[in-house]
Amino acid sequence: MCGIIGVVSRDEFPSRFLLERLKRLEYRGYDSYGYYDSTSLKRNLGEIIVAGEGKTRIGIAHTRWATHGGVTSENAHPHMGCDDEVVIAHNGIIENYKDLKVMLEKKGHEFSSETDSEVVAHYFEEKLKEKKDVKRAISDFLKEAHGTFAILMMIKGDDSIYAIKRDSPLVLGMCEDKLILASDIYAFSDITTKAIFFENDEYAVIKKGSYEFYAKDGKRIRKDVTSFTWQQEDSEKRAYKHFMLKEIEEEPLVVARMLLSLEHEQKEAFRRLVSLVKKSRKIIFAACGTSYHASLLGAFYLHTTGIEAQTLIASEFKHYANVDADTLVIAISQSGETMDVIDALKYAQEKKAKVVSLVNVPYSTIQRMSALSLSIMAGQEVAVASTKAFVNQAALLLRLAQEFGYKANLANLAEKIKGLIAQKDEIRRIAKDMSRSKDAYILGRGQTYPVAREIALKVKEITYIHAEGMMGGELKHGTIALIEKGTPVISLIGCKDEDMISNSKEVEARGAKMIIITNNPDYQGKKGKAKIKDVVFIDTDNDGKFGILACVAGQLLAYYAADALGREIDKPRNLAKSVTVK
Ligand code: M6R
Repeated sequence: MCGIIGVVSRDEFPSRFLLERLKRLEYRGYDSYGYYDSTSLKRNLGEIIVAGEGKTRIGIAHTRWATHGGVTSENAHPHMGCDDEVVIAHNGIIENYKDLKVMLEKKGHEFSSETDSEVVAHYFEEKLKEKKDVKRAISDFLKEAHGTFAILMMIKGDDSIYAIKRDSPLVLGMCEDKLILASDIYAFSDITTKAIFFENDEYAVIKKGSYEFYAKDGKRIRKDVTSFTWQQEDSEKRAYKHFMLKEIEEEPLVVARMLLSLEHEQKEAFRRLVSLVKKSRKIIFAACGTSYHASLLGAFYLHTTGIEAQTLIASEFKHYANVDADTLVIAISQSGETMDVIDALKYAQEKKAKVVSLVNVPYSTIQRMSALSLSIMAGQEVAVASTKAFVNQAALLLRLAQEFGYKANLANLAEKIKGLIAQKDEIRRIAKDMSRSKDAYILGRGQTYPVAREIALKVKEITYIHAEGMMGGELKHGTIALIEKGTPVISLIGCKDEDMISNSKEVEARGAKMIIITNNPDYQGKKGKAKIKDVVFIDTDNDGKFGILACVAGQLLAYYAADALGREIDKPRNLAKSVTVK
């Protein structure tokens, strides 16, 4: 969460360039933003507006996802010390900021924000007053500060940016006339393909046309320049009202591309993954949010083939997972930067488990800390609500299960998704109706249980309607008490799943307004045997694809309900795309 940018240029550039670059990181947080271009400090609330008249050769910028302190202009970054000598932008959390603040207040520092980050500016201001040189001050900071940070710092009268990293992502992009520091490569992937990735407790001094990297003890280090490639869909919305719909409609293309890559450029990596699964005593997935739901589906597919597979929400991993050298831990993450997943992997590595990952954003922390990493090749996802990444994660896991005997026809998955998207007008009608409710329940079993949870997450995130996704069988053990006349219940009925049909009847009998997503022909057409009005019929075998396709139907339902409510679909309140705090 939070995105940071630093630019040092050979020639003058318009200050608005800082905001142009920052805009590309807006998905990391959009509570407030600001920049410092060596003459002026600008801070604003809300969406980044790329504007500004000035010119500069150096500057830093920040887009915030609030943790410590409310969404106010005082809490927006960059922050300055008392004498405006030091200016910083910070992503992460300084865990011992209260102790540092007390120490600095005793020395006369006055604070103007409620953030943890402001202590960083005062800390360095104090060290410079004590006549420490900046590098020694940074070494002290790395000893004294606890927590996670990617920090960019400018000092009055100094034409450098100092960049410090521990556990929050930081990368240096190299353009012909500029060096650009950023939270991730997307900030500059349209203008360069060369970058240097910071490792923990490293720092760098970036000047016009030159850079130097140091270890925490102040020793100079050599760093390799990586040439990166990243297949990006055109990230312009074009005719689409929202990125979310554009990304759903890209699903046929990106899923076909990913499956093809497993036969070609990712063939060897896929073969190694299969071999690691074969060799391991058990598989444990670690993931959060949507990626967790994909992993739950993966655990279902693998489990069906007799493999010992389970998944855990990454933030609870160490409380519930027993891992050892015979365990294969598979991290699943769109961003590759989710802190809870990184923590789970560190724990797994301490216990000597083998760590592999399936990620979308290349060169991300999770990819780089894995012994083996496959790309899900979904292309850039801009909307905060993850859609095409889920489809590709689940399809890759289904492909993996096929290697162990799971029967599924993946060759027509892209076509089937297209067919489903073609039903969007009918789905919009059902969604509009659903949008008038305050609660919704989504029921699934087996392969559709993870999907029920994923649809509920989509509904909550973008419509703000309270939604619960649960096991159809569990409903009667309590939650059924909440069903009233007209409560929407989305039932995911796989062909011939008599138990799901019974669970649906149980809520229907209590007045629920049924919405059925199914591949069961009894529900097909207005005159279907089941006589339910709101049906999304998916013409597919019940072979593992149904779960993925049912999820696409749910994504569209959530999208159109949110649209009917006029919600900020791509940037829902309180959320960020990349969750880099615990
Ligand atoms: O980047 P990751 O896949 O690790 O992110 C995990 C979750 O934060 C993410 O899936 C989140 O739940 C999305 N907003 C869901 O739409």
